[in-house]
Amino acid sequence: MDKFVIRGGAPLSGSVNVTGAKNATLELMPAALLAPGVFRLRNTPNIRDVWTMSRLMSSMGAHAELNDNELFLDTTNIPRQEAPYEHVKRMRASIHVLGPLLARYGYAKVSLPGGCAWGPRPVDFHLKGLERLGAEITLEGGYIIARAERLKGARVSFDFASVGATFNVMAAATLARGRTVITNAAMEPEVTAAGRFLQKMGAQIEGLGTSTITIDGVDDLKPVDEETIPDRIEAATLLIAVAITGGRANVCKTNPYHLAFVLEKLEEAGCEIDIRADVITLKAPEKLAPVGITTAVYPGFPTDVQAQWMALMACADGTSTVTDTVYRDRFSHVPELARLGCDIHVNDNTATIRGGGKLTGATVMSTDLRASVSMVLAGLVADGETEVLRVYHLDRGYEGLEHKLTALGADIRREKTEEM
Ligand code: UD1
Repeated sequence: MDKFVIRGGAPLSGSVNVTGAKNATLELMPAALLAPGVFRLRNTPNIRDVWTMSRLMSSMGAHAELNDNELFLDTTNIPRQEAPYEHVKRMRASIHVLGPLLARYGYAKVSLPGGCAWGPRPVDFHLKGLERLGAEITLEGGYIIARAERLKGARVSFDFASVGATFNVMAAATLARGRTVITNAAMEPEVTAAGRFLQKMGAQIEGLGTSTITIDGVDDLKPVDEETIPDRIEAATLLIAVAITGGRANVCKTNPYHLAFVLEKLEEAGCEIDIRADVITLKAPEKLAPVGITTAVYPGFPTDVQAQWMALMACADGTSTVTDTVYRDRFSHVPELARLGCDIHVNDNTATIRGGGKLTGATVMSTDLRASVSMVLAGLVADGETEVLRVYHLDRGYEGLEHKLTALGADIRREKTEEM
């Protein structure tokens, strides 16, 4: 297992590029199951979750090859329409293969993901949505088994604008007979990117980026070449790294429109933000102002940036709150941040952060992807040495984070640990 060893203190400066979006890639890859042939996905992040999706799809009979952020995906034959537990337990986004497999083959067997570090995370919206399209779904031995001769278009309304469920239903509906209308659809840029990809493949989709998506089913789809959108969560993380260290740096190859809410909050905290095309320049203030946030579905403040924001607010001059309305239990980073000196108290789904105290280096343990990166951010300003253990969580979603931070002047290195 690897750990990061960080010596805090250096203000970040220079320029850094953002990688392709993890969550978009985890929709584009399964979407490729809808059509036989060879797909080329450019700007694919070289991260563990993409390796897991590649392994899962290979176990079904696809062929995946990732070189220099270019992924070739051959989905000509998928003889095993099954996502085994050993892959799904590693990554919940494995559920994204359900809709595409069912639509193309009329059958899919996918392990139930189970809970995760931040609560039960059910998949009922996915299943109800596919049932609305005519799928017959049973649960056997911890597996979802879905069958349908050919799916039929229907009206599907979600109680909550779920990213994954919107993807599964939209993808399945592309090959259904007739029209599907999804209401309260997710508007996240990654869902829109998947929709555009499906359109390129020949799908008839309208309303992407709005809460109503209409899909008119077609008989078949074709493989395509696509470039993945930039990772807005990685961009936000890097901007917060610059802000927390009191630095000034350029975060390049971003889509600033996808970051509007986060950028405004950074400005409220006193950061100067300058946007030129796909480059965001952030200059940190002398003292960060406390700014509360409440997470919400896009275009609101992303739950995936909540932990990083908490680390930033621990360094602000005053008290602020962070409320998570998307994942109400997503606070596993709090006790670890406390080990670094952050003063945070959680009540229900709101954390109160008393900023301004001194952070000091300590050994902390990664618990999930965004939690671990919040510890890295705190480590960048803590006095002395911070060790972040189990960075495999972080490697799920960040490509070479330590190299990017080193290029900006941070003192961070990866080391092997004896830990089992
Ligand atoms: C995706 C992202 C994840 C992000 C999340 C919210 C990927 C691979 N992951 O996850 O990084 O944090 O969106 O922006 O894209 N829910 C149900 N039943 C369901 C589905 C969801 O109750 O069937 C609830 C969830 O428990 C949660 C909320 O809906 O409270 C939002 O979840 P959802 O948007 O589905 O998240 P994911 O697609 O799993």
